[in-house]
Amino acid sequence: MDGGFVKIIVIGANGTIGKYVKTLLTQDGHEVISVGKTSGDFQIDLEDAASVAALYRRIGKFDAVASAAGEVAFAPFEELSQHDWNLSVQSKLLGQVRLVQEALPYIADGGSFTLMSGMLGEEFIRSGVAASMINGGVEGFVRAAARELPRGLRINVISPALLDDSLEAYGHNYPGFKTVSGQAVAQAFKKSIFGVQSGAVLRVH
Ligand SMILES: NC(=O)c1ccc[n+]([C@@H]2O[C@H](COP(=O)([O-])OP(=O)(O)OC[C@H]3O[C@@H](n4cnc5c(N)ncnc54)[C@H](OP(=O)(O)O)[C@@H]3O)[C@@H](O)[C@H]2O)c1
Repeated sequence: MDGGFVKIIVIGANGTIGKYVKTLLTQDGHEVISVGKTSGDFQIDLEDAASVAALYRRIGKFDAVASAAGEVAFAPFEELSQHDWNLSVQSKLLGQVRLVQEALPYIADGGSFTLMSGMLGEEFIRSGVAASMINGGVEGFVRAAARELPRGLRINVISPALLDDSLEAYGHNYPGFKTVSGQAVAQAFKKSIFGVQSGAVLRVH
C-alpha cells in the first residue's frame, strides 16, 4: 500500500477506540467497512470462526484489517471463573488470530493486519490478570506471525493505555496512570496500516 486509497475492514468500528479509527481513515478518503458484534455494515462474533470466514467471503478482496475489538474479563484473580478465562481466550486472543487466518485467501498482496492488545501487557493493575495474559499472547502471536505471513503481508499490534473516554468508567482501577486520546490511538493504526514495519508493538502509553 503506497499511499493510494484502500479498502479497510475495521472490526469494532463503533466502539470507543474503533470509532476514532473509522473517522480518521474515512477522513483520509479510504473505503472503510464497519464490523461489529451487533452494529456496523456486517456483524460477526469473534468467538465463532465460521462467522469470521463468512464475513471475508461476503466482502471479497480488501487491503487491510484493523481490529479494535476483543473482550477480556476483569475480576480479582481468585474470582476469575472458567467462563471468564474462556471468554478472554476465545474473544480477544483466538478471535484476533481468526481475523488473520481466515483473511488470508482474500487480502491483497502487500496488505496489512493491525490487532489490539493494551498497556496491561506490560503494566499491571488489580483485577487485570486475564487482560495482561491475553495482551501478552496477542503480542507474541503478532511477532511470530510477521515472520510467516506470505505475499508481503504485514502485521502489527496497537498497545494503548486507558483512553480519556474510558476514564470515567474504569479510571478507579488505574490509580496514577496517564490516559491517552482516541485520536492518538487512531494515528497508531494509521502508522501500522500505511507504514513499513511488521511484527511491531506500537505503544500509545
Ligand atoms: N478503551 C480503552 O481504554 C482501552 C485501552 C486499551 C486497550 N483496549 C482494548 O481495545 C479493544 C476495544 O476496546 P473499546 O473500549 O473500544 O471497547 P468497546 O467500546 O466495548 O467496543 C468494542 C467493539 O467491539 C465489538 N465487539 C465486541 N465483542 C465482539 C465480538 N465477540 N465479535 C465481534 N465484535 C465484537 C463491539 O461491537 P458492537 O458495536 O456491535 O457492540 C464494539 O464495536 C478491547 O480489546 C480493549 O481491551 C481498550
